[in-house]
Amino acid sequence: MKVLVATEKPFAAEAVEGIRQEIESAGYELELLEKYSSKDELLAAVATADALIVRSDKVTADVIAAAPALKIVVRAGAGYDNVDLAAASERGIVVENTPGQNSNAVAELVFGLAVMAARNMLDGTSGSELKGKRLGIHAFGQVGRNVARIAKGFGMEVCALDPYCPDSAMTDAGVTPVHDLRSLYSDNRYVSLHIPATPETRGSVGYDLITLLPKGGVLINTARKEVIDEEGLARALADRPDIKYVADVAPDCAADLSARFGKQVLFTPKKMGAQTAEANINAGIAAARQVVAYLRDGIDRFRVNK
Ligand code: 3PG
Repeated sequence: MKVLVATEKPFAAEAVEGIRQEIESAGYELELLEKYSSKDELLAAVATADALIVRSDKVTADVIAAAPALKIVVRAGAGYDNVDLAAASERGIVVENTPGQNSNAVAELVFGLAVMAARNMLDGTSGSELKGKRLGIHAFGQVGRNVARIAKGFGMEVCALDPYCPDSAMTDAGVTPVHDLRSLYSDNRYVSLHIPATPETRGSVGYDLITLLPKGGVLINTARKEVIDEEGLARALADRPDIKYVADVAPDCAADLSARFGKQVLFTPKKMGAQTAEANINAGIAAARQVVAYLRDGIDRFRVNK
């Protein structure tokens, strides 16, 4: 059986070696498709794949249709908005993610971006410190929890909003639960986004929420660009020159925002949150083990589709 690892943004070399070991020691064949530049390459490569491991690579209906032998897709990472779940389910293909495996890496980058904003993008002027500032975490999943842990080290006051998470999980972590979305934005100088991209969340953070941020507010987005209403973000930055937007997921209008708002915004050139050797090894090897567990033993513990 063939396991295809298709990563437009490749894993670190050590991660690939670990994946190879897991797959080959189970008696399967590994095929690597890295840094591919066209969908045709992916379509050709999946033609003979029994299993597929991806990162943010788009596994659309036509990719699934081009893979007649495909039995499982594992998204090595958290968000699976890049996989067409309905198309996979229709064919009985299992889709899994690897929850928690790259969350520390993403959480650390939140603070890289926060410090850049606090220090005026290192432009030589006097900035401010994170210590003593309030941080609101928008969604308290695996990344949000790591963000809370690190924020405590910085001496920040931390609260979080997450309708899917019991208050006790927050209070146990020393985090104040918040139940009103508007106060999450109005009461915190820093707000860090960790909501997934779903039909409900797409475009849900726009002008009304962003302009609630207090003076000097900073919105940090290491989640998905799709959750931002970009037109509303641009208007908010124009009306509120004191606020900043720092993101690991550059919006479609990144060039325009950078040109118009200069040091009010900062974007990474590619999605870099999970781009560490450790996260690649954790998520990549977990994905390989999950593939083997399913192909060999039918175990689908991390399945996200029905
Ligand atoms: C995730 O959902 O796990 C992160 O956004 C990481 O995405 P990446 O694997 O494309 O870096």
